[in-house]
Amino acid sequence: MPFDNRSIIKGEYIPPGDKSISHRILILTGQAIGKSEITNLLEGEDVINTLKAMKLLGIQIKKKKNKYIVYGIPPGGLLQPNNRTIDFGNSGTGIRLLAGLISSNNIKVKLIGDKSLSRRPMKRVTEHLSKIGANIKLRKNIYPPIKIEGTGNAVPLNFHITIPSAQIKSAIMLSALNTNGIVKVKEFKSTRDHTENMLKSMGYNIKVKEDALHRFIEMKNNRDLKQINYEVPGDPSSAAFFITAACLKSGSKLIVKNILLNKTRIGFIKTLKLMGGNIKIINKRRKHFEFVADLKIEQKKKLKPIILEAIEVPMQIDEIPILSIAASSANGLTIFKGLKELTVKESDRLLLIHQNLKKIGVKSEIKKYDLYIYGNQKLKKGGGIIKHDNDHRILMSFFISNIICIKNNVIRDKSCVKTSYPTFFKHLSQFSH
Ligand code: S3P
Repeated sequence: MPFDNRSIIKGEYIPPGDKSISHRILILTGQAIGKSEITNLLEGEDVINTLKAMKLLGIQIKKKKNKYIVYGIPPGGLLQPNNRTIDFGNSGTGIRLLAGLISSNNIKVKLIGDKSLSRRPMKRVTEHLSKIGANIKLRKNIYPPIKIEGTGNAVPLNFHITIPSAQIKSAIMLSALNTNGIVKVKEFKSTRDHTENMLKSMGYNIKVKEDALHRFIEMKNNRDLKQINYEVPGDPSSAAFFITAACLKSGSKLIVKNILLNKTRIGFIKTLKLMGGNIKIINKRRKHFEFVADLKIEQKKKLKPIILEAIEVPMQIDEIPILSIAASSANGLTIFKGLKELTVKESDRLLLIHQNLKKIGVKSEIKKYDLYIYGNQKLKKGGGIIKHDNDHRILMSFFISNIICIKNNVIRDKSCVKTSYPTFFKHLSQFSH
């Protein structure tokens, strides 16, 4: 059953559990007092690696039917693993967040990852963690393996983060859990705030304030984390592939159920709407300090080009690849500004987007870190051999691009979808014909 330019996106779609929330709920329930239950956890490889890491650090986690049951050990109680190496596979979130958690515990380990992860910058996280007293060594002073010897006596500090990154912030916040004293963090308010929201839900003593540009977090670290029963909402970054496909095709009618609508995660919905996407939010509700809703997409018009400012990028950092497919179909020049962070993701996404757009028949240019896409409403030639470097989001974005191509593109080795969206092709088959 092909997915191609004759596919119509019609029906009801339920995205898989959110990846960012899945990592965090495993880590935080692992530090809570008592037994917590998690449903709709994303069973992608990235999250499973975090789950295994928590087990190696002494946390008991069991799966019963569709629930994960976590028996937490309060901060300070993590165990030294027998095997001193922990493998995070492809996951930047996993390795960075766990480096934070471990840094304030008397634990000595080596954190490693696959080829892609071994090329990603870690100093942005470890430079902060070293200041609390952890002893950390990196390959070439930048990359994994992260050899880390945590401290049981972490110094409470004020941190100022100058890169908009939820991973840096969350690593620091996790180190604060086993720190005696007040820890303050100043960062950009555009980064995802799930760690903050979860800590609030679990009764932790945390204050969060925002001004026009920044977020200010204060953690007193004088209260236990309470157990929680948590249903992970649907992942907007995974749903983005189907939402964009629906916007690309006149005649689509898609209902998306149970999607996380956190304001730091849905920049792409705002962007698609500005481009003429007909997306309506229905049944908006709030649970555990997060918004969840259903969406209704009924596309009648063609998309228009847009200029996306750099300040908006963190709120759609993982959706730029699929938005570039939307831009390819919009009549005129779309510019996505300030994409430097895209060059240090699972691959150099900026370069791969540009190269693959060419392969499907779309002109684009990279000027400094801005991406110019010259779109039009005609079908693209397609038939390109996509270069994805095992980056899940590049692969899925260019698979979706088949919907705007005359000839389907060639994508070899699709196994990397398992990192964030193992059921991607099963979900896609609903819209094949
Ligand atoms: C994530 C944060 C983002 C994002 C990644 C997941 C998280 O990275 O790209 O896929 O769960 O904290 P940065 O915070 O480094 O930009």
